[in-house]
Amino acid sequence: MAPTRTLDWINDAVEMIDQTLLPQQEVVLRVADVPTMVDAIKRLAVRGAPALGVAGAYAVVLAGRQHDPTGDPTGFRAAIEQVRTARPTAVNLARMTDRVAALAGAGVGAMLAEAHRIRDEEIAASTTMGEVGADLVLELVGNRPVRAMTICNTGGLATVERGTALAVVHTLFERDLLAEAIPVETRPLLQGGRLTTWELQRLGAPHRLIVDSAGPFLLSRGAADVVLIGADRVAANGDTANKIGSFSLSLGARHAGVPFIVVAPESTVDLTTPDGNAIEIEDRGPVEVATFRDTPIAPEGTPGINPAFDVTPVAHIHSLVTDRRVVRFAEGDTLTSTAHLVT
Ligand code: MRU
Repeated sequence: MAPTRTLDWINDAVEMIDQTLLPQQEVVLRVADVPTMVDAIKRLAVRGAPALGVAGAYAVVLAGRQHDPTGDPTGFRAAIEQVRTARPTAVNLARMTDRVAALAGAGVGAMLAEAHRIRDEEIAASTTMGEVGADLVLELVGNRPVRAMTICNTGGLATVERGTALAVVHTLFERDLLAEAIPVETRPLLQGGRLTTWELQRLGAPHRLIVDSAGPFLLSRGAADVVLIGADRVAANGDTANKIGSFSLSLGARHAGVPFIVVAPESTVDLTTPDGNAIEIEDRGPVEVATFRDTPIAPEGTPGINPAFDVTPVAHIHSLVTDRRVVRFAEGDTLTSTAHLVT
């Protein structure tokens, strides 16, 4: 049985489930230096915005062990830059890397304590989002078992425990109010097909997997009561970057009159990015599109376009659930007008 936490600091290094090998193999990867962490982030052994933030935070501690940050800062700074830019779209990675690196002058012990704080904050945020999100969904669809469509993997694997959008599914299940989860497979790396199904199966929650292109059509046929997605970055106007395919689901949800809800911690809200056009979208190159796990699915050398994320405009989003507040865009709320419930 794989550990409950996706990643953690154990015996002076980071241990994480290698997500590239799921669901066939549950292998724990031990990461004790920055190049290994950067490689793990780039090849998606660890992924999902909050988990990337925690990985980045611990990577700074590893950098501090390799290059004394209280001495000549050159090596330390170069290592930090590699970590914070390993993937560009999820704001958590650079944000949490910077948060820990800001304590460099206080030494490695202080940085490790801050990284633990970030881990613990994300764990607590997941629990709160699950509860608050489930309350909102039940308010919107009526107090009855819910059919929830979701994309990518937004469970414990993408955070540290429980998740964001999938935390809401988890909580509905615990309350005996989940009729079924409908994860979309999420081409090209199949985070929905490989990871979300793995988590739902372990939980014992009812679910049926669909291909990406079935999502909008099934919404038009009334197959789901709500669409729940996570986020890699929420811009100041509410536009939301998330896994490629989220935008198509939002169009389907709008067409069908189904609420489309974003679930993300405040650590993913980026008020310095004005709107979705300003969000850098990671381009992962054509190979992932033309192959699957080294098996070609197109003639060798086929060119491709591979944006890892898209942006759902705020006009398509009913609400954003964070660990501190519910922002009901559909009712005129904005991120800057909506107060935090807990500060
Ligand atoms: O490319 P990935 O797998 O890192 O993309 C992850 C997502 O798009 C998630 O939906 C997002 O990070 C929110 S996860 C809690």
